[in-house]
Formats: sequence, C-alpha cells, structure tokens
Amino acid sequence: MKISDFIYFSKFGLKTVLFKKKDPILGTIILTDKCNLSCKHCSVNNLTAVIYPYAQIVEEMKILYDMGIRILFFCGGETFLWADNGKTLRDLVIEAKEMGFLIVNVVTNGTYKIDLTEADLILLSLDGDRERHNIIRGDTFDKIMENINNATSDNICFYMAVNQINKDTIPFVCNLAKKTKNVRAVSFNFHTPYPNTKELELSREDKVNCCNIIRDMIKQKMPVFNLKSALPYIIDNSFPTPCYQCVVMENGKLSVCGRCIDIDGLCERCGYFFVAEYTLLFNGNIKIMMEMLATYLKYV
Ligand SMILES: C[S@@+](CC[C@H](N)C(=O)[O-])C[C@H]1O[C@@H](n2cnc3c(N)ncnc32)[C@H](O)[C@@H]1O
Ligand code: SF4
Ligand code: SF4
Repeated sequence: MKISDFIYFSKFGLKTVLFKKKDPILGTIILTDKCNLSCKHCSVNNLTAVIYPYAQIVEEMKILYDMGIRILFFCGGETFLWADNGKTLRDLVIEAKEMGFLIVNVVTNGTYKIDLTEADLILLSLDGDRERHNIIRGDTFDKIMENINNATSDNICFYMAVNQINKDTIPFVCNLAKKTKNVRAVSFNFHTPYPNTKELELSREDKVNCCNIIRDMIKQKMPVFNLKSALPYIIDNSFPTPCYQCVVMENGKLSVCGRCIDIDGLCERCGYFFVAEYTLLFNGNIKIMMEMLATYLKYV
C-alpha cells in the first residue's frame, strides 16, 4: 500500500471514530449473478444470469467514487464471466484504478485463466481440501490449482467459507496458501445461513473450535488475512451490524453492508469476518486498529 493511501485511510478512520460518522469507504459492485458453478452453500448464483452492461458498471463506479468509496470489490456470480462488447474484467479494474479507487479487488471461483495483474487482490474461493472443496463446488479443485500456478501475478488470496462440510480443513488451506506460488494468504468467513442453506451453519461449538484453529495458525505464522482480536466477537455474533462503512451495488440498487441486508434475522447470524473487522475498527477498537494496520501492510 502506498503511504499516501495509508494516510487517506487513517484520516477516514479517525474522522469516523471521533465523530461517529457513517460514511462508506468500501464498495462492492456485482457484475453479474451468472455463474458456471452451482455451489452447495451459495444462494446468489444464476437468479437472473444477466451480465450488466459496461456503461452501467462504469456509472455505478462513479456513484460509489462520489460517495467517498476508495476500496472497490468486483463480485458476482462469477466475475471472470463478465464481458461486454470487447470489454473484459481487466478493463473494469483498469477503469476503476484510473477513476481513483485506491484498492481494487476481485472475487472469483478461480476456474478461468487468471491474468489480472492490475488488481490489488484476487480473492479466490477455495473451500477446503480437494475432496471437501469438490463436494461443495463440483469437480474444480485441480483446475483451480492449475490456474493459480499459471497466473501472471502473485496477488491471489484464498477465500474460504467455513461450513459443516469443510470445517476440518482450515489447517490444510493455510498450509496450501503458504506453499503455493502466487498465493499471498487466506481469508476466512463462516457460513452465513441464507434461508435455503441453513443446514450448513456452524454451531457455536464449531465456531469456537474453528477460531481456536485459526488463532493457532496465526501463531504458527501461517498467512491468515484476518484479525485475531475479532474472533471472540465472531464466535458470539456480538459485533455490531450492519457495517455502515460498506455498501453493495447490484443493478442500480444500493444496499448498506451486504445484498443480504433485507433477509429477516440474517445479520444476527452473519458469518462474514469483514463485517466484524470493519465495524469493530470503526467503533474505535484499538486492538483491531493495530492488527488491521499490520495485516493490511503485510498482504495488500
Ligand atoms: C458469491 S461468491 C461470488 C464470486 C465467485 N463466484 C466466487 O465463488 O468466489 C463470493 C464469495 O461468497 C462466498 N459465499 C457464498 N455463499 C456464502 C454463504 N452462505 N456464507 C458465506 N460465504 C458465502 C463464496 O464462497 C465466495 O467466496
Ligand atoms: S462460484 Fe461463487 S457465485 Fe458461483 S455458485 Fe459458487 S459461490 Fe456462488
Ligand atoms: S451483517 Fe447482515 S447485511 Fe451485512 S453481510 Fe452480514 S448478513 Fe449481510
């Protein structure tokens, strides 16, 4: 991260904490809900399968930029399926950088060729060892690992949603992140129980066990892109929700925090670590501030 960006984010954080402001800094644009996979834990794929046009996405970027957002995520559906009149995902990343977003990240299932040097981070979903990942995501593990090996840059971070199927594979994914070329780290979430995937939710006991393992992994210097101090809040879902500093834009609709905001009772069971980490940060939790600083400087 550049020093100037760091100063920008520090000023934003200070203003937010001191004046209890609710301005957003992180925005996600959904490029499409079309997807080539149909993962067991996912409730957002292929609801419309529409690929939103380039002009619309650029307009959405402008709106987010004008709102003060400087960290931009592109998400889906599958982001690498996005294309419009010769424009590709790469053009969107370049456009976002030129517009002035300081960090531009992409979330992907990793099943397509990875050539996206311009992104700050490519969050690539890997949901366990070959067996467990393939149960959740279809027979994709080997293809994904091949794509990672052939990637043109080392800006990949594994993104794992821990659930009833893969809860025992956290150390495996940490080790894989450590030893795999082009992979910087792994970032975890717990399964968020959308109405049709409740059976994959972790119990409190599961969460305690998983958090103990994640803590242990961090102690062993595994490349974990999460904050140790947020784990107790994640176990008990005692972090504040929603996260006012995050917004999502999908097909012109702006939502605070996540596109899941309207699902009754879901926020109390939210498994997204970023919500805990950001809300604790912007509520002025000093330990979180120090840890976030160290973690971002290491991996972004
Ligand atoms: C919806 S996908 C879109 C991007 C891309 N298709 C992918 O799989 O990475 C974004 C992330 O959300 C995660 N996800 C999907 N359903 C979830 C759930 N119920 N709880 C937690 N994470 C979930 C996926 O595992 C993935 O890492
Ligand atoms: S690849 Fe991503 S969007 Fe597609 S089904 Fe899986 S989690 Fe959902
Ligand atoms: S806090 Fe609520 S809106 Fe935000 S990500 Fe979690 S479930 Fe979705």
